[in-house]
Amino acid sequence: MNKMPPRLPSVLVVGVNGLIGHNLYIHFKNSGWLTFGISHHPGSDVAFSFDLYHPDYQSLESMANQVDFAIICSAITNIERCKNEPSAYQFNVINTIDLIDYLCRLNVIPIFLSTNMVFKGTSRYYYEDDDRYPTTTYGRHKRAVEDYLLKSGRPFLILRLCKVIGVEYQDGTLLTGFLDRLRSGKEIICARDQYLSFTYVGDLIRALQMLITSKSYGIFHISSIEIFSRLELAVQVAYFFQLDQKYIIPCFMEELDFSEPRPQHNSLDSTRIIGMFGFSFSNLQNCLSMIKTNYENTQSLKQAIHF
Ligand SMILES: NC(=O)c1ccc[n+]([C@@H]2O[C@H](COP(=O)([O-])OP(=O)(O)OC[C@H]3O[C@@H](n4cnc5c(N)ncnc54)[C@H](OP(=O)(O)O)[C@@H]3O)[C@@H](O)[C@H]2O)c1
Repeated sequence: MNKMPPRLPSVLVVGVNGLIGHNLYIHFKNSGWLTFGISHHPGSDVAFSFDLYHPDYQSLESMANQVDFAIICSAITNIERCKNEPSAYQFNVINTIDLIDYLCRLNVIPIFLSTNMVFKGTSRYYYEDDDRYPTTTYGRHKRAVEDYLLKSGRPFLILRLCKVIGVEYQDGTLLTGFLDRLRSGKEIICARDQYLSFTYVGDLIRALQMLITSKSYGIFHISSIEIFSRLELAVQVAYFFQLDQKYIIPCFMEELDFSEPRPQHNSLDSTRIIGMFGFSFSNLQNCLSMIKTNYENTQSLKQAIHF
């Protein structure tokens, strides 16, 4: 007798209009997984409207009952807003924990996107179980939700990410942002003493798919191996695309007007996921090549439309 093929997992993406939520939603939908999306934007192209400032769980019930995993992409991600707006705590911590609690009661496994900013950032390559001493309110919000999950005794996934980048035309992420500014002759102010790794959104999607399908739970660091100063990154973008470096203005972190101390080192050790799956991360050259292809394709498309 033929065995039934195993059922594909079903996912709910909370916050489909953000950078990460958008990419995850498109990917899982195109992969044939049963995929639901929710957004606080009325009129956006998703089945369910949900505002985490004023959550209405009744509207979620029928959909939440159909999913195995919920990827929580909704957050107030602006570091200054987290510090200055008291409602950001309500959103990022109180209401996010309530949502997680609600989902867990329906046996949905929560996937929480956290950050290297739970660490102090005084050294490189933090491990999953290193002590967390966030220096920013944003980082403290993330640590509070992590603490809740760690103490919950339920299965969960926490993915800690470094600066997330995309490679699409003018997607407004770090490398394409540098490229767009350099191409239009706008200055970029870059600290020579702030060090970072990045998380390419395509790697994040691949990693998440592997973790879900293998039913792996716990905390995972998802970050490229290379570390660059912000200044080096901008110079590499200019060099790769043969653009003038005169618009790159070097500075030191202390010259930037941050209202809270920012970590100097923003890198994570990802050997846990590399060891488990032989996972390979994209490097800077891979990402710059993808950006080049996407910009060339968009430009030839624009030219074709023009003629
Ligand atoms: N980007 C990074 O470099 C990075 C690094 C580390 C960790 N992370 C974490 O990854 C997650 C996603 O980040 P992102 O960069 O994609 O964020 P983003 O582009 O700033 O998007 C913000 C997210 O919040 C949702 N949202 C905003 N207001 C909402 C509301 N009132 N109710 C419900 N949802 C609301 C948005 O979805 P809708 O507009 O569809 O509602 C969107 O998913 C966040 O938790 C962030 O902290 C990001």
